[in-house]
Amino acid sequence: MTVTEPDRFNGIFSTPLNELLDKVETSMEQDLVPAEIFNSDEVFQAEMERIFTRVWVFVAHESEIPNAGDFVQRRIGLDPVIVTRDGKGGINVLSNYCRHRGTQVCQTDAGNSRFFTCPYHGWTYSNDGTLIGTPLMQRAYGEPLDPKLWSLKKAPKVESRNGFIFASLSEDVPPLEEWLGGGAGWMLDIITQLHPDGMRVAGPPDRYIVNGDWKTAGENFAGDVYHLPTLHNSIQEIDLIQGLQGTCEIAGTYEFDNGHTFVGHHWTEAIGPFFTYWGYGAVPGYAENFDVSGFDETAKWVAENQPPTVGTIFPNFSFIRIFSPLPGGRPGVFTSFRQWQPVAPGKIELWSWQFVWNFQDEESAQYDAVGGQFCFGSAGVYEQDDTVAWEGIPRAAASPWMRKEDMKFHYKQEGANTGVDQSPDPDWKGPGIHRNTGYGEHAQFNFLRQWLKHMKTEAPASNCPADKKKSTCEGEH
Ligand code: FES
Ligand SMILES: [Fe+2]
Repeated sequence: MTVTEPDRFNGIFSTPLNELLDKVETSMEQDLVPAEIFNSDEVFQAEMERIFTRVWVFVAHESEIPNAGDFVQRRIGLDPVIVTRDGKGGINVLSNYCRHRGTQVCQTDAGNSRFFTCPYHGWTYSNDGTLIGTPLMQRAYGEPLDPKLWSLKKAPKVESRNGFIFASLSEDVPPLEEWLGGGAGWMLDIITQLHPDGMRVAGPPDRYIVNGDWKTAGENFAGDVYHLPTLHNSIQEIDLIQGLQGTCEIAGTYEFDNGHTFVGHHWTEAIGPFFTYWGYGAVPGYAENFDVSGFDETAKWVAENQPPTVGTIFPNFSFIRIFSPLPGGRPGVFTSFRQWQPVAPGKIELWSWQFVWNFQDEESAQYDAVGGQFCFGSAGVYEQDDTVAWEGIPRAAASPWMRKEDMKFHYKQEGANTGVDQSPDPDWKGPGIHRNTGYGEHAQFNFLRQWLKHMKTEAPASNCPADKKKSTCEGEH
């Protein structure tokens, strides 16, 4: 018998958006979250408007566009953008909609070009977005079109940290440093600046569709330690890894401002003092190259002892670094950054980059990248477990029965008898909150509280900053 599973449901049991958001707020006070937010047309549309057009979103790493003319095609929420390195070395994030009729002027994932010619009627733009040509101009228009009015739209805010390029479609955002705050930026330094030359992408990203919600992926990578011994048990059964049962015991959360959240593992306590820096200390050729003399004392302690295993920079940019169990190979540590691109309610395109150290030679870098693919590529041993589990959630969220029951998901892991102290670490000297346990689902709530904060802030009439007249703003590109 085939059971038809609900994919999308917006019927008589759907809750109007504002009512649903109020319900989320009161439910979260009891550590519950209404299932409906993980598969709803109304919620999804509001997320695109209230979050993805209004906050900093990761678009590319500078190592993907090192030379003048390099470009990659990316997305901010649902919008295609071209991230370019122009002739002056500047980075531009251009809307990939032709100003004539909207056709995508760039139809390839990546390349090198000084200009983009729209395939429809041939309007041509330089790689900084400026309109530089219109075919048959004399007969069609009589005089050149004003590039001030007819160039490609550009993301008004573009900034980088450690090579990670973020863009905002709204001018009305704090500087990137402020958005990342002392927490996520500090953690990004710990992850990518162990060596002063930093990291680079090992290649273009993998991309695959997952029938899961972007928030599910985001909260999982924010710090769902609880799932490791069950969902990933098959990896223990084939002897690639051991000790997952104790994972919550040695974990610690790092909850930062603006919903950015990481969770680490106390490897030196669990495995031994040699297992510093994510286990790099146990692999020849790595830790001896690292230089953490510029780190503050807490950052040094984190990097050496309880480094972040996973993390999510709100809204949809995540990270994972673990010891990679490549069968038959030398030990290694891989670093993957990933992005949960929203496609539709309960559907994402998962983008996954492997990162390697700039000091590594090609052979060593490729070995680590393969280790990353083995664990977290489209056929990765962990990735397949995760994505199957995530696909169950939007089904539950779209179920007419469960909506009738007003199903809420459970985010409370504490009770009189657990004996686990989930309170913030009183001795923590770093930014944000640190807890010395993986129990509690506090990390997920840090992420979801930020989601709710944005969702409860109604969108302005336009993206023009309040101090600018709408007509002035729209005349710009
Ligand atoms: S749509 Fe691009 S030139 Fe007409
Ligand atoms: Fe997982």
